[in-house]
Amino acid sequence: QRLAVLYGGDSAEREVSLNSGKAIASGLQQAGFDVELIDTRGFCLADLTKRNIDRVFIALHGRGGEDGCVQGALQYMGIPYTGSDVLGSALSMDKIRSKQVFQAQGLPTAPFAIVEKDAYQETQAEKILATLGGMVMVKPANEGSSIGMAKAKTANELHQALTTAFEYDEQILVEAWINGPEYTVAILGEEALPAIHMETPREFYDYEAKYQSTTTQYHCPAGLSDEDEDALKALALKAFKATGAKGWGRVDVMRNNDNQWQLLEVNTVPGMTETSLVPKAAKVHGLSFSELVTKIVAISTG
Ligand code: DAL
Ligand code: MG
Repeated sequence: QRLAVLYGGDSAEREVSLNSGKAIASGLQQAGFDVELIDTRGFCLADLTKRNIDRVFIALHGRGGEDGCVQGALQYMGIPYTGSDVLGSALSMDKIRSKQVFQAQGLPTAPFAIVEKDAYQETQAEKILATLGGMVMVKPANEGSSIGMAKAKTANELHQALTTAFEYDEQILVEAWINGPEYTVAILGEEALPAIHMETPREFYDYEAKYQSTTTQYHCPAGLSDEDEDALKALALKAFKATGAKGWGRVDVMRNNDNQWQLLEVNTVPGMTETSLVPKAAKVHGLSFSELVTKIVAISTG
């Protein structure tokens, strides 16, 4: 099969995507695929129709690549691709709508407020903080890799955090602070892979903890009881289905002080460098990186 790996792009997660794309292309080549690696920055997607490609492996993170835009263009051109379709991609990209869908389906997710850039007034900050228990996490609705995120515990900090977040998005999710460990579950087809527990001495699992820090620890197996691991996996699969995600992805979850799982979000094109989370879980599951990317191609339906 001839595959095009789309990577790079123009989102705030470009650097991560450059690394994911290179690793994916090399894993696919190792598995015997004929691979063309294409940076979508400045590339005209319509040119893919001239390249005799059987399928596109989407290795783009963030806006433009993970949010349904590229998926829609490929669908329009009749070119098959990996992972989620337009709906699952768009919904999973939007952390606010994702949480609304989780709530509607009775899936656990922390209380939150929505702040609109156009309507925001500084006086809102104090009210939001009081409503959400005095400590919050501020997240641009449509970003990834913790870009634009900040913790706030005073009205002034919240105002500052919102001001920063508005640089990234018009809609901001302000989520009640979850005091507890963070986990992630990779999804491959109908299956949830072994959970990973991420541990960082930093305030939260931010961009630096994800990509630059040497102090982040990853535990897989996650150290959960069989019962808890099963419950977490079942919840992750439900969340994945709820947002309409397909094929492969990764569901981020935290566990609060009352031992309740709290869904954060679904990632439809999670990081895929050799040291990323999904490859770690796959390895514990018995799949090499090359076998993992081969499987992602094999289970693609779009
Ligand atoms: N958004 C990054 C790439 C991740 O979820 O892994
Ligand atoms: Mg994400």
